[in-house]
Amino acid sequence: CGIVGAVGRESGSEALDTVLEGLSRLEYRGYDSAGVAITDAYAAEPQILVRKEVGKLSALRNSLAEDPLPNATTAIGHTRWATHGGVTRENAHPHRSWDGKLALIHNGIIENADAYRAHLKTLDIKTVSETDTEVVAHLLERAFLAEPKPAGGEEPVGPESVSILELDPENPNPKDATRLVRAMSRVARDLEGSFTLLAIQEEAPGVIVAARRSSPLVVGLAEDANYLGSDVLAFASQTHQALEIGQDEVVVVTPSGVLVLDETGTEILHTRGLEVFAKTPAEKERLFEIDFATDRVTKEGFDTFMEKEIREQPRAVAETLKERLDAKGALTLDELRIGAETFRGIESVIIVACGTAAYAGQVARYAIEHWCRIPCEVELAHEFRYRDPVVSVRTLVVAISQSGETMDTIMAIRHAREQGARVLAIVNTPGSTISREADAVLLTHAGPEIAVASTKAFTAQIAACYLLGLYLAQVRGNKYADEIADYLDRLSEMPAKIQTVLDRYAGSPDLGVDLERIKSVIFLGRHVGYPVAMEGALKLKEIAYLHAEGFAAGELKHGPIALIEEGQPVVIIVPTPRRPELHRKVVSNIAEVRARGAVTLVVAEDGDESVNEFAEVVWRVPKTPTLMRPLVDVLPLQLFALRMAGHLGFDVDQPRNLAKSVTVE
Ligand code: G6P
Repeated sequence: CGIVGAVGRESGSEALDTVLEGLSRLEYRGYDSAGVAITDAYAAEPQILVRKEVGKLSALRNSLAEDPLPNATTAIGHTRWATHGGVTRENAHPHRSWDGKLALIHNGIIENADAYRAHLKTLDIKTVSETDTEVVAHLLERAFLAEPKPAGGEEPVGPESVSILELDPENPNPKDATRLVRAMSRVARDLEGSFTLLAIQEEAPGVIVAARRSSPLVVGLAEDANYLGSDVLAFASQTHQALEIGQDEVVVVTPSGVLVLDETGTEILHTRGLEVFAKTPAEKERLFEIDFATDRVTKEGFDTFMEKEIREQPRAVAETLKERLDAKGALTLDELRIGAETFRGIESVIIVACGTAAYAGQVARYAIEHWCRIPCEVELAHEFRYRDPVVSVRTLVVAISQSGETMDTIMAIRHAREQGARVLAIVNTPGSTISREADAVLLTHAGPEIAVASTKAFTAQIAACYLLGLYLAQVRGNKYADEIADYLDRLSEMPAKIQTVLDRYAGSPDLGVDLERIKSVIFLGRHVGYPVAMEGALKLKEIAYLHAEGFAAGELKHGPIALIEEGQPVVIIVPTPRRPELHRKVVSNIAEVRARGAVTLVVAEDGDESVNEFAEVVWRVPKTPTLMRPLVDVLPLQLFALRMAGHLGFDVDQPRNLAKSVTVE
């Protein structure tokens, strides 16, 4: 889910507009439903007003256009990816307390919500939704009411902290704001699970109070306004100054200052405008600058973002590879807080990732082991943590993530670091949680990827992984500068080859396939073609809702061949004939499925005529070294999924039930 908060001085509609703008940038975190809550610090009688709608953010915008909310200084907003409870307006955020005076939004999962729900029932507080969040809204309001009003507005919020009046001298309700912060501290301590919580209360209308545990939260700092967000995109159009919020911290945000408290309620730091007053100098390092443009990304004339992003792959790969060699022929990565000495001592590499990024990792394994002669495993991030992996200070954990916000991957790298491993992140989003938590960062310069189904991030991730592989090979002495330069040359030919394949097929409406007949698809590949087969299947599942499976071609005879019957479409990725040991076997696989009635759709190199007699459709790719073939082989598969989804009339960019980035475990 995505979370935004804005609190400003002027009694204009600005806070609400900022929150809506932020939500549109956070829709990648979920789009089942969206909602906002506002209040106004300067109203004679501040009230909490909530508006929420099922469906994409546009539904909420339409509702607000038809029936606008009044001016607000304080606004919070949420875009949901359902966990607890179905996709209904009741279950959408913000959730109100029973008396309507408090509104709360949440990302994460509260594990002890059921016990609290039962407790609330004994107090005659009934919940109207099925969510864990609503339970917290009631708990927080009860804690707020139980909190005595501080004697004076000048009273510090917690031990060694400033008061709300010092933080924001114009705050009309400093006493109640203090109560809300203290209530949040108390409630957050007792919650189990992961959460980012943002609350507003009508008796404390000049503040937003937030808490977090194992779920991201960043603060945006400006003069006369401050912001909160799940990530910096939430407020990057307003300010480029951001502040990290740590584990189990509570934050109060006012227009003129922000106060961060630790779990005991003791101040860690506060801000005034852009200035940070920290208790220890180290805490000042939480302040960071957002160093990327946040211009609105457009479809640039394409019908869908996915199509545009597929077409952007030559550039995505080229940008990722650009200017990576220094004058001495040594490779350079982006942010390297790990010394070459440490890289030399690495005994194993473990790649952790989810979804498409994990398939990029599986491709990379072949190259890393081949070039560096170090064992390389690839593990789904959510499995890694729970299998008691063998990790030591000599393990390099590589986290691959487009968004840098996938919770499963975040938890995996935290686990790895606890075991002493170094973590290198390959991410597409600068400033994202994973890039901030890693010891080193290699950026994929694919540009923002908006479509949920990942395409250009995948090819850019493979390119980045190859850079890492070559870098490791270089520092460990497995490969010398001239060899590295040679590999880089071959990699740098890939954008043009990608372009060739796109020129051949991107304009073709059906790719030569009778889309009508397709109900399920099997994908086969060997060696690096195997993860590509799985990625091709994933694309079809994600956007065309078709049953699709990718198998290692060699595994066919051990089971999957039983699935083949007359008319079953099978996509086969054929290795280059220059690797006859691989090529021969896969060509036999085509013959085997064809003999059993399959409709065969084959990806093969230019000039490889051996496939013709068994293939119903051949998608041709230029001659390419085996390790680099995934960069071209995946293209027809992406286009196939795109055409299939279009043919079936589905929303290609925002498919049902998915989120671009899954921010819960
Ligand atoms: C979600 C998306 C996938 C994506 C995966 C990993 O499941 O639906 O398309 O591949 O997350 O995302 P990341 O941002 O970590 O690469």
